[in-house]
Amino acid sequence: MENNRRPESMQRITTPELAQAFIDEQLTAIRAQVGSRKVLLALSGGVDSSVCAALLIKAIGRQLVAVHVNHGLLRKGEPEQVVEVFRNQMNANLIYVDAVDRFLNKLEGVFDPEQKRKIIGKEFIDVFAEEAGKQDGIEFLAQGTIYPDILESDDGIKSHHNVGGLPPELHFELVEPVKFLYKDEVRVVGKALGLPDSMVYRQPFPGPGLGVRCVGAITRDRLEAVRESDAILREEFAAAGLQGKVWQYFTVVPDIKSTGIRDGKRSWDWPVILRAVNSIDATSASVEEVPWPLLNKITARILSEVKGVNRVLYDLSPKPVATIEWE
Ligand code: XMP
Repeated sequence: MENNRRPESMQRITTPELAQAFIDEQLTAIRAQVGSRKVLLALSGGVDSSVCAALLIKAIGRQLVAVHVNHGLLRKGEPEQVVEVFRNQMNANLIYVDAVDRFLNKLEGVFDPEQKRKIIGKEFIDVFAEEAGKQDGIEFLAQGTIYPDILESDDGIKSHHNVGGLPPELHFELVEPVKFLYKDEVRVVGKALGLPDSMVYRQPFPGPGLGVRCVGAITRDRLEAVRESDAILREEFAAAGLQGKVWQYFTVVPDIKSTGIRDGKRSWDWPVILRAVNSIDATSASVEEVPWPLLNKITARILSEVKGVNRVLYDLSPKPVATIEWE
């Protein structure tokens, strides 16, 4: 456990200069550890794995094999952004895996939240291990583990392995360049590495993605309603200057329908639930007081642009008693 302790002498990274010094130090350390060998990384597009990938690309270029698994539960535009930033702009050796059908087929008819999480987690490991098996000469596995992950796993709260535990036949040495950083420091480093703000200041997003916001058994049409309404909410929050100010905001589409009226005809459609909360560490959360005109604007857009929806609701429940996510 000794090399899992942040050195007491380590200064908190708060400025671009301190970030640059950290980056230089890590480039040397990564090159010394890896040499001319190959490293595999699961790149979700989240802050931690993106910063980890950017550091490795700078250090060892195309010796890094980054695998992005699109499980169909990402937000609108996210898989495209990963390809644009890492493959097109950084010239990374990026393997994009379209596993959408595979995940959604496995999830068909499964309504229990824990079962959904298990399927998503297991399928992710299977897809990743398959891709790893296709690569020759990989000796290292890079992970975007950060310091709170280590502290929480010491406390027994959760396992800190982003990948969730790979099959034992994959014997990799770990490369974890951001493991002593706190989240705010990861963002400062990400910014210094030139990653886009939408990646660096990304809100917390659950591993099972939109899957936990498409409540109950996931169907493709309802999942699309979650994705489209989420994109509208994010767009309108950004336009209103709330991006980066509200801790987490998203939409949920439960598996219920209600009566409505559209073009003079009775409709039978889903509600979209808006959720916007503030928190420090996700253990408790308060509801953001979203201005009424903004709620009206978001409602009007969702009702006219998202298929299969006839109501918009705002979730007023703090955590506790509610949790942040609906599943
Ligand atoms: P809850 O819903 O428990 O969520 O109040 C607390 C925070 O954790 C996020 N969350 C998850 N993150 N995998 C994750 O990586 C998950 O299964 C998961 N479930 C919830 C949630 O978005 C919130 O920020």
